[in-house]
Amino acid sequence: MKTKLRTHTCGELRITDVTKEVVLSGWVQTIRKMGAITFIDLRDRYGITQIYIDSKAEYISSLVDSGAVKMNDFTSETAIKDIESLTRECVIRIKGGVVERVNPNPLLDTGKIEVVVFAIQILNRAITPPFTIEDETDGGDELRMKYRYLDLRRNPVRKNLELRHRLAIETRNYLDKQNFLEVETPVLIKSTPEGARDFVVPSRMHSGEFYALPQSPQTFKQLLMVSGFDRYYQIVKCFRDEDLRADRQPEFTQIDCEMSFVEQEDILNMFEGLVTHLFKTVKGVDIPKLAHMTYADAMKYYGNDKPDTRFEMKFVELTELVKGKAFKVFDDAELVVGICAKGAAEYTRKQLDELTEFVKRPQIGATGLIYARHNADGTIKSSVDKFYSEEELKKWSTAFNSQPGDLILILAGTEDKARKALSELRLEMGTRLGLRDKNKFSCLWVIDFPLLEWNDGDPNLLASLAGRWHAKHHPFTSPKPEDIELLNSNPGAVRANAYDMVINGVEIGGGSIRIHNKDLQAKMFEILGFTKEDAQNQFGFLMNAFEYGAPPHGGLAFGFDRLCSLFGGSDSIRDFIAFPKNNAGRDVMIDSPSMISDEQLNELHILVKETKK
Ligand code: AMO
Repeated sequence: MKTKLRTHTCGELRITDVTKEVVLSGWVQTIRKMGAITFIDLRDRYGITQIYIDSKAEYISSLVDSGAVKMNDFTSETAIKDIESLTRECVIRIKGGVVERVNPNPLLDTGKIEVVVFAIQILNRAITPPFTIEDETDGGDELRMKYRYLDLRRNPVRKNLELRHRLAIETRNYLDKQNFLEVETPVLIKSTPEGARDFVVPSRMHSGEFYALPQSPQTFKQLLMVSGFDRYYQIVKCFRDEDLRADRQPEFTQIDCEMSFVEQEDILNMFEGLVTHLFKTVKGVDIPKLAHMTYADAMKYYGNDKPDTRFEMKFVELTELVKGKAFKVFDDAELVVGICAKGAAEYTRKQLDELTEFVKRPQIGATGLIYARHNADGTIKSSVDKFYSEEELKKWSTAFNSQPGDLILILAGTEDKARKALSELRLEMGTRLGLRDKNKFSCLWVIDFPLLEWNDGDPNLLASLAGRWHAKHHPFTSPKPEDIELLNSNPGAVRANAYDMVINGVEIGGGSIRIHNKDLQAKMFEILGFTKEDAQNQFGFLMNAFEYGAPPHGGLAFGFDRLCSLFGGSDSIRDFIAFPKNNAGRDVMIDSPSMISDEQLNELHILVKETKK
């Protein structure tokens, strides 16, 4: 759209525009002075155009003087003389003519032309930014977050938000075509101790009472199914007060969905359709049909419920094979389990020491690493040769199906710890061997999750929830009908109709078929340690609703920020959020969270501490 401030954007002009008179507005990216001539790279959201100012060019003055170029409202600041004072990031408007460039710049879309300036107007000046506004900036993380509005001027960050926009649009396109209705659900809701910790909001009008911000719209979307909405979605903010990581923010966005009159398979198909559509339309990638892997297999072969299946390197269990040879580490272990790293037999002593250090880090928790090299000449040499003969090592090789040139890596310990540590080692080896290509996508469904897990002190949950069963997904998830009878006798063995979508080792989304029967829901709360009164107090609205004709229903939610970072080839979701929080959960730009005044605290009926100033 042409306006008085610009006829074109800075990314628009091409060789076919030569001789046109144009008005451009934007930010000064760079200034290069060469005597009387100045080159400016003028930048806006759409690109960069080189502009060329010759303050002595008589032809420009004569054009202006003769009236051939109409200066209109530029005349008040025919500031060609004034360019000395221009600095980077000033906002300017120029009028000029498009000419062919003598030295084209193949890196710019506009690189074949430049604009010879007739007049220049400074719309606003800028002080020196705290870091360079370039693709490769010199600004550190914290500084860029403090001046996020400047960081957002940089191409890579802007492109990430453009990608986010595209994904949102295509999500809406797909779901709209499938008859989903976008319905907004409330943000001020009720706190429930189940799930992660809530962010709470004190009520001014109701002394001593609090709203909570939703961890997800879970119960509301189920109520919408009771209302007959049939297919719901919402691209929605969720809030969780939990420990932060590269793929976790305290406020994040979900593509939240729910459907009625469906079974698990229908939901998997519908949302496989969504990601297939997104990959196709946004990345131009055709993904193959998604594999289904049970939770039990994911744990057995990858030690992880979100396996990175871009590469194989499956776990092989050796417990029986290696016991009884007087090697105490193996003899004492509950589980001996390993992986075979293809082509890594040549690893040096130093590299192997590094791997040993890696698995011994406290967050990985292994006590040591055993290895066996399957050498190019066919011999096998292990780090525990004195306990295992060549013949026994051959059996190891058979178990791993190792080939000459491969490296076998083995961990031993308790079942859980050994699997968890080996899972980390597998990912590390995947990275070291270049098997985790960001442009390759491996998507799958992990299904048949356990319904419950024993909470022996998860730091992300309230301490009062320790020492009881906790819903692995959430308390509204339906057990598999064939496992319901185990609910009393062996709750840990009950499988749920729950599923996660995993892409490249990231949990991109998850959901379940829901309980839609009041009695079963009440039973579930009982197993989770709720008294009847607590369950009624906190979730009575839902159980009551189930008495008014609740259809069978189910759904899932995608982590939208995670989806964006996956599509953008980054590990950090922060890069895809316009104004994210830092690792400590702070917004360093607006300085939040922050203290509030005693007056506000009083109004909110929150005790004012003496020490507060
Ligand atoms: P769940 O808790 O698995 O399910 O969340 C769904 C998806 O949201 C993403 N996610 C996050 N992303 C960024 N920061 C966080 N802190 C964060 N926490 C979760 C993950 C996850 O897979 N109501 C259910 C869904 C359902 O059953 O329909 C729910 O919220 O990608």
